[in-house]
Amino acid sequence: MQKYDLFNGKVNNMLHGADYNPDQWLHRPDILEKDIKLMKKANCNVMSLGIFAWSALEPEEGNFQFEWLDQIIENLYQNGINIMLATPSGARPDWLAAKYPEVLRVNTDRTKDLFGERHNHCYTSPAYREKIKIINRKLAERYGDHPAVIMWHISNEYGGECHCDLCQADFRSWLKDKYGDLETLNQAWWSNFWSHTYSDWDNIESPAPQGMQSNHGLALDWKRFVSEQTIDFYKSEIEPLREITPELPITTNFMYRFDGLDYSKFAKEVDVVSWDSYPSWHSDQESDIERAADVAFMHDYFRSLKDGKPFLLMESTPSKTNWQPVAKLKRPGMHRLSSLQAVAHGSDSVQYFQWRKSRGGFEKFHGSVVDHVGHEDTRVFNDVKALGSDLQKLEELTGTSVEAEVAVIFDTENRWAINEASGPRQKKKNYVETCVQHYQTFWEEGISADVIDQSKDFSKYKIVVAPMLYMLKDGTSERLKNFVKNGGTVVSTYWSGIVNETDLCFEGGFPGQLKDLFGIWAEELDVLYDADQNTVSFKNKNGLKLSGQYKAEIFCDLIHLDGAESLAEYGSDFYASRSALTVNNFGHGRAFYIASRNEQKFKRDFYQALIEELDLNRVIEIEFPSGVTAQKRSAGEKDYIFLMNFNNQVVEIKLNKKYYSLLKEKDITGKLRLENYGVEVLKS
Ligand code: GLA
Ligand code: ZN
Repeated sequence: MQKYDLFNGKVNNMLHGADYNPDQWLHRPDILEKDIKLMKKANCNVMSLGIFAWSALEPEEGNFQFEWLDQIIENLYQNGINIMLATPSGARPDWLAAKYPEVLRVNTDRTKDLFGERHNHCYTSPAYREKIKIINRKLAERYGDHPAVIMWHISNEYGGECHCDLCQADFRSWLKDKYGDLETLNQAWWSNFWSHTYSDWDNIESPAPQGMQSNHGLALDWKRFVSEQTIDFYKSEIEPLREITPELPITTNFMYRFDGLDYSKFAKEVDVVSWDSYPSWHSDQESDIERAADVAFMHDYFRSLKDGKPFLLMESTPSKTNWQPVAKLKRPGMHRLSSLQAVAHGSDSVQYFQWRKSRGGFEKFHGSVVDHVGHEDTRVFNDVKALGSDLQKLEELTGTSVEAEVAVIFDTENRWAINEASGPRQKKKNYVETCVQHYQTFWEEGISADVIDQSKDFSKYKIVVAPMLYMLKDGTSERLKNFVKNGGTVVSTYWSGIVNETDLCFEGGFPGQLKDLFGIWAEELDVLYDADQNTVSFKNKNGLKLSGQYKAEIFCDLIHLDGAESLAEYGSDFYASRSALTVNNFGHGRAFYIASRNEQKFKRDFYQALIEELDLNRVIEIEFPSGVTAQKRSAGEKDYIFLMNFNNQVVEIKLNKKYYSLLKEKDITGKLRLENYGVEVLKS
């Protein structure tokens, strides 16, 4: 496996730092001076600068004030701190909104925003595009070749949609490009249903609560358009940067489970993927172990967006957020563990929002490296400082990555379509959660997994798990079949192979073109009330050597065998003894179909059986207690194994050989003690 270079040779250590907003403190030179001292004490080597600094940089239209930024950049540089320089488009100055009201977004109900908030501009507006290009050009000209600047941080957490006239017009021309004529569009959207046939392009409007909400083809295309328009806006933002600083890599920070943008498309346009992770640890909604699996899934998703290239943890909180319903403090150990968890999955940085707590404003109670008390003698500061020293010990891991034999398909357009669909249940479709649950056993077993969309190449994997693959895009079924023909294993579930890309149901039975792959036909889908249950029991002598009974909930697909073999059956209701799990031999491989949503224990036993049969590589061949797992990064001959304990208690592990502990900086062998939320990084 190759080693990646994220920064064109400019830095080659793990990055550790924060969003730095000195523009809030320009009236306090004493604070600015102290910041630099504290950054060094905290072992920070990078700051993301200027993210919301537009009004400080351009207080009036055309009046640019860069002197303060010159000073900050120079101070950071003199003190060995790298800079990710942000473009300021995440929030706008008031004059921009007052003079060019077109920059203000129109909401889905067609009300127009007033000035305020952030992340809420029209991405079509020529005025917004022009103004941001002007300031971005100036930033690039002034700082593009500054030795401290290692990367562009574009805007902040792009998202949201605008329904203004400019956006409607662009949407219509986007549709014209896609469909050519209205007849094709009407057919693709099945719009003659309820007499919604469009007779004029100008009659097409984006979805609205007081207008069209029921045309799923329209809704999906609108989401695609919003996503592409945002990417187009981003591309126009970076035009001057690419021109003036072609060597400087570019990133923009993506978000947890955000479904407003198709990140699989966006990722193609950035040089490095980065994301902001704010898990609610220690919550009363789920265990830390479940939460950790969910975060691991997201890390693997963001790494897989660029086929394994390391990503950056652009933001996390050093203590807590101010926006979660209840934001508990991270228990001792959790800061280190959750930060190194990101590194374990392929992050080359740990960064925070934000460096210093604001005195006022919406986020004044959000955790920061430097608290309102203003000195370094705090638990959080010391955690951060210790983590910085850990990261220094992991320098040789930068550029290494994760190799996976397992892929879980988690597909944005499929997610949109599932959420848009009316029926078969309105709630608890839970596509994302389901993907995470199917991933979880691999994570628990210390087996690396990629999380990919359905357009990715499957050929490098041994197993592809595709839960709820409701929307089959053109070409997916062929590629899945080829993968299985050549010896791959595919697992899918109920509610797969239902619609095409414009949400038209497949004719001839479900799961559409996948019927022969799975050797089944799904006739009806029963949905259960929350409190209802069915059961699924393994048949005697099923090929997986599994036995026992499991709970089935929410979805029960009623399938017919058409070549497949039944491995398990429903226990009750009018479909008792009908197949609930099947396997079909297809070419050199096999395709499994799980007909119902079964309890997690089913998934664990089922995937463990597959792990054994397929002889999937665990990153370390040792037994873990529950809540302990492992991940591996590699390059060349070198392997780095992360052992992570998500239990709030001490565990002991028996190592299988001698390792070098990078964190302890010594050889270790035999019994290894992991503290509460403890973590160890081993080199073999
Ligand atoms: C997001 C934003 C930051 C900040 C944090 C707070 O990730 O990018 O500006 O608001 O949330 O958690
Ligand atoms: Zn608009």
